[in-house]
Amino acid sequence: MRFDKLTRLLGNAFRPKPEYITITPVTASAPAPTLPPPEALPRHVAIIMDGNGRWATSRGLPRSAGHAAGTEALRDIIRASDDWGIEALSLYAFSTENWSRSKEEVSALMGLLLKYFNSEIDELDEKNVKITILGDVDGMPEPQRQALLNAMARTEDNRGLRLNIALNYGGRAELARAARLLAQAVKDGEIEPGDIDEEEFASKLYTAGLPDVDLLIRTSGEMRTSNFLPWQLAYAEMVFDECYWPDFDRARYMKCLCVYASRDRRFGGVKGQTPSTEKEEAAN
Ligand code: IPE
Ligand code: IPE
Ligand code: MG
Repeated sequence: MRFDKLTRLLGNAFRPKPEYITITPVTASAPAPTLPPPEALPRHVAIIMDGNGRWATSRGLPRSAGHAAGTEALRDIIRASDDWGIEALSLYAFSTENWSRSKEEVSALMGLLLKYFNSEIDELDEKNVKITILGDVDGMPEPQRQALLNAMARTEDNRGLRLNIALNYGGRAELARAARLLAQAVKDGEIEPGDIDEEEFASKLYTAGLPDVDLLIRTSGEMRTSNFLPWQLAYAEMVFDECYWPDFDRARYMKCLCVYASRDRRFGGVKGQTPSTEKEEAAN
């Protein structure tokens, strides 16, 4: 065997396995996970709900059955976020890239979307949930566009959970749109180019006014962000769960929140040190 091949093989053997979440089923003998205290919870959770297709295929069902099962998990996770006092929940439901799927799959997804909004809007509104759609609503088919605009208008003044649903969403498209809006504002004399800082830029994103994402969860074992919230995820903690989205439930969600609570978020600093800017101020 050639030396380089041998070292490659040895390297693979010692490479750590990806750090997925594995959950011991909650049984009478295994204690249920407990929710971290409120100050240890993320303010803004984003979820890439992935694996519906594989969930269905592994059961010999059509992919659309996986999407239908996925909406059940969605209900549960939205309710849990509301019960646990999460401030904002952003869910990736349909990307600009997802239009490349078959006509059957796209229309099944669009059908489920309408069904979902029609059946859930009363309860969400009652729970004071404020719905925001992240993405190009005008690029959606007309019945879906109407349902989305209606959901946003109806819940506009609600002050409970901020529920963001990314539909026809692409992260790069969102950044390009923000750049266009800023360019227009300069052209109209509303701002100077020098006024464009991070805060001004963020004010032109779909998530304007919301805190950055603290925790990103992706199901199905994939470890990528697939063009989801590139700006807002800049300092997010990431937790990957190997289960397919229809199998994601409150217990797994709670485990993800526990993993988040155990992370050490440093934001570039070092614990115990006084920031140099404060030192300078102290010296003057
Ligand atoms: C996520 O599940 C749902 C959408 C993208 C709409 P997938 O449909 O991507 O499921 P897999 O990844 O093919 O299993
Ligand atoms: C990301 O999942 C989009 C949604 C969950 C809506 P995909 O299944 O489309 O992502 P890739 O293709 O695996 O990157
Ligand atoms: Mg997928």
